[in-house]
Amino acid sequence: MGFWSNRYIAVAIGGGIAAYKTLELLRLLREAGARVVVIATAAALHFVTPLTLQALSGHLVRSDLFTPNESDGMDHIRLAQEAELLIVAPATADLMARMAGGHGDDLLTTALLARQGPVLLAPAMNSAMWSHPATQRNVAQLQADGIHWVGPEYGALACGDQGQGRMAAAEQILEAGRRLLSPQSWRGRHLLITAGPTQEELDPVRYLSNRSSGRMGWAICHAALRAGAHVTLVHGPVAMPVPWGAEAVAVQSAQQMYEAVLQIWERQEQHALPLSAAIFTAAVADFRPARRQTRKIKKEESGDQTLTRLTLAQNPDILATIAARANRLTQENRPAPIVVGFAAETQTGAESQAALRALGQKKLAHKGCDLLLVNNVWAEGCAFGSPTNQVTLLHRSGHEETWPLLSKEVVGERLLDYLTTLFV
Ligand code: CTP
Repeated sequence: MGFWSNRYIAVAIGGGIAAYKTLELLRLLREAGARVVVIATAAALHFVTPLTLQALSGHLVRSDLFTPNESDGMDHIRLAQEAELLIVAPATADLMARMAGGHGDDLLTTALLARQGPVLLAPAMNSAMWSHPATQRNVAQLQADGIHWVGPEYGALACGDQGQGRMAAAEQILEAGRRLLSPQSWRGRHLLITAGPTQEELDPVRYLSNRSSGRMGWAICHAALRAGAHVTLVHGPVAMPVPWGAEAVAVQSAQQMYEAVLQIWERQEQHALPLSAAIFTAAVADFRPARRQTRKIKKEESGDQTLTRLTLAQNPDILATIAARANRLTQENRPAPIVVGFAAETQTGAESQAALRALGQKKLAHKGCDLLLVNNVWAEGCAFGSPTNQVTLLHRSGHEETWPLLSKEVVGERLLDYLTTLFV
């Protein structure tokens, strides 16, 4: 069952052109299995019709405070109290002013006054309106009142201007809502993740790389952000957008990834939020061309029909380096992050699971990390780029767990839950 399945969500729509984007939010919520009720201001119904809202939400849209309803006439109170989350999208400057002033002059503001659970605002307006002192005063007041925010984003605005004021995309509002409703088991913790492949340049147009998609690292990153962690994501070239809210460092080569990770390690020692864990999902190239040619290699230059010999140099082992540093901290009785590696192996035959564990144990000891998650890329559902994975977790204490085939999202959640049991 998905996260949104059967959750009761109220979506309130203010009177702004961005209301058309809220239609997509309604569609996404319904598709994810949520029960959705819509409250629209009278102004909102100039931008989107009650019929469209009804079709997308599956219920009659509520707008008027004084229209009798089928129950006891206290519909706004019931709506506000029963929903697990109330999303206001778009939140216009006027609506925010009325909220900040504690007005209750229509169904929506009355519902907001009666609301006790979380409220998520997605503001949308012209950038001059957003930066106006009156709006900023209201923003500060609403923040002090415990209202949550997503956006507004910087970009092209409906009025033709460029600036801050764009409503967050529907996917981002959904993600913000999910984070609000998720248990915050990693709040106040800092997690470092490496993800994706590295590319080792041969010349300006060619490189050596591997099949890593970055999906496992991305799934852990999403799960950690939902659980309230501060996430630093050091990643190689990956086709997916960086999860919103992560502190991302994009690199290309293994050497660059090594340097970025070391810099984060050094910074975290002075950082107000030291690392609680470091998870290495990146498929780091073990070798790089010993010499990168500054100009494109021409086949004629190899002289004859034989291939030019490729000379490789070894890359630093990022995981082993960080594990050694963490172990040193532990020896000095100082707090150290939990260091986690991943290993994708290729095993066949009846004994493949035992052989995989043996390989994993050897790698765990060799790398010096606390935890290693091994998987067999030849097993069903475990190929590179697949949305699922089947892993065996090996802890340096000798503890082992073999998990079933799960979505990478669930593997990420389970791993983070497991790590919280190790925090002292
Ligand atoms: N790793 C790393 N830096 C490297 C190589 C690997 O940080 N230069 C990390 C990976 O991110 C992963 C773990 O080490 O978490 C295991 O990667 P793997 O490629 O299986 O390890 P190798 O030591 O390269 O072993 P193999 O000889 O099997 O390739």
